[in-house]
Amino acid sequence: MNKAKPKKNKQTSKIWGGRFQKDSSEIMKTINASIWFDKKLVFHDISLSKAHSNMLYSKSIISNIENKKIQKGLNLIEKEISNDKFVFSDELEDIHMHIEARLIQLIGETGKKLHTARSRNDQVATSFKMWVRDEVDLVLELIKNLQSALIFQAQSHINTILPGFTHLQPAQPISLAHHLLAYVEMLGRDKSRMEDAKERLNQSPLGAVALAGTSFPIDRFATAKALGFTKPMDNSIDAVSDRDFVLETLSNASIIMVHLSRFAEEIVIWASPGFNFINLPDTFSTGSSIMPQKRNPDAAELIRGKTGRVASAFYNVLTMLKGLPLAYSKDMQEDKEPFFDAFDNLKLCLKVAEGLIREVEFNIEAMGSMADLGYITATDLADWLVKECNIPFRDAHSITGKVVKHAERNRLTLDNITMEDFKTIDKRITSDVFKVLSLKNSLKSRASYGGTSPKVVNKALKQAVKKWLE
Ligand code: ARG
Repeated sequence: MNKAKPKKNKQTSKIWGGRFQKDSSEIMKTINASIWFDKKLVFHDISLSKAHSNMLYSKSIISNIENKKIQKGLNLIEKEISNDKFVFSDELEDIHMHIEARLIQLIGETGKKLHTARSRNDQVATSFKMWVRDEVDLVLELIKNLQSALIFQAQSHINTILPGFTHLQPAQPISLAHHLLAYVEMLGRDKSRMEDAKERLNQSPLGAVALAGTSFPIDRFATAKALGFTKPMDNSIDAVSDRDFVLETLSNASIIMVHLSRFAEEIVIWASPGFNFINLPDTFSTGSSIMPQKRNPDAAELIRGKTGRVASAFYNVLTMLKGLPLAYSKDMQEDKEPFFDAFDNLKLCLKVAEGLIREVEFNIEAMGSMADLGYITATDLADWLVKECNIPFRDAHSITGKVVKHAERNRLTLDNITMEDFKTIDKRITSDVFKVLSLKNSLKSRASYGGTSPKVVNKALKQAVKKWLE
């Protein structure tokens, strides 16, 4: 057993090393260091430090000269980072300590005053919130671009008919524009969820310090304002231990990815020769290394594939947080990597989806021929029987079933069945029925609010431009 006592009077070089006699083990430094991922927060953390220092001066906690020195030092560090001259190392754990240590190197003793009335606990919560807020803004912009691409395509397809599916079985004729606008609506809700989250998260933790506040006469409202927050958070314990802003934005990101994934799945299906609804653009598809005839929908598949990755980032942070007592625990350092990864991939997928939809070519004929196959105006026939012959819907449904059976047996579309055959199935049917059996008339007839008729969709498109793009 190693009974050697630690040598007296020896200290570690760590910023927090006052009470320590030995340095951390190498493996401890490795697990403890977050610098390799939290260095992303550098500019946010420097802005935070500038605001904090200005506030310390305004409350006479530091002098004007000291504040000026600190501001100058922080500006220098910013330049070093931008010019790739800044040295990172495991020794200094995280971005907050890196900046502080470098500040002390650059401006000397005054640099040691910056950490007055603040802690890494409120610092990290604040810097990360600022990062998340910026990412939300980027995502909002990308969602808008994707909506604009969908609306752009929809504008030329108000009269393009395809079979609408339920259970992936041809159900009723719809227009391509109507189908694309469904995604525009989903993305609109995604956007508003992100906006909600942003509003909720936009309160400043800074000044909560370690967890209990401080005895210094700080002005939390001033730093909150300087950093673009609406106000300081009301409870200092909550301020340093809240990570629901990460959960909320990741859960919103997961929902967006699920929407993108459903869209991607449709691209994959539509590009398959059995459907042939779309021609994938060269720019967003790939070939096979062995099968020269192939054109693969990799872009869409990767969007679909990355959905699990984003959703698991949400579960990752959810699980990390669930057992943590208040206030800060180091576990929370694990909130950043999943967020960074999820949002990088989310942004990538939004951009790819936009490019793909802008450039895809729709195969109007193939959509039309599949619409012709599936007896998809059967509901129109049933509705006609209700409206024109006063037959209760359940009976109309059953009569229509017989008509479809007849058509299937004789390989006919519904509008090719003869009047004679209609009469044998039900005497009450008249030649007026042909008005509702064509795809075009069926489409036109669905003019209820939110329906697929070209007139309604035309209006919806105009509204969509106003609602989402202006
Ligand atoms: N790197 C840490 C994190 O990301 C910063 C906060 C450290 N706080 C502490 N009390 N050790 O969470």
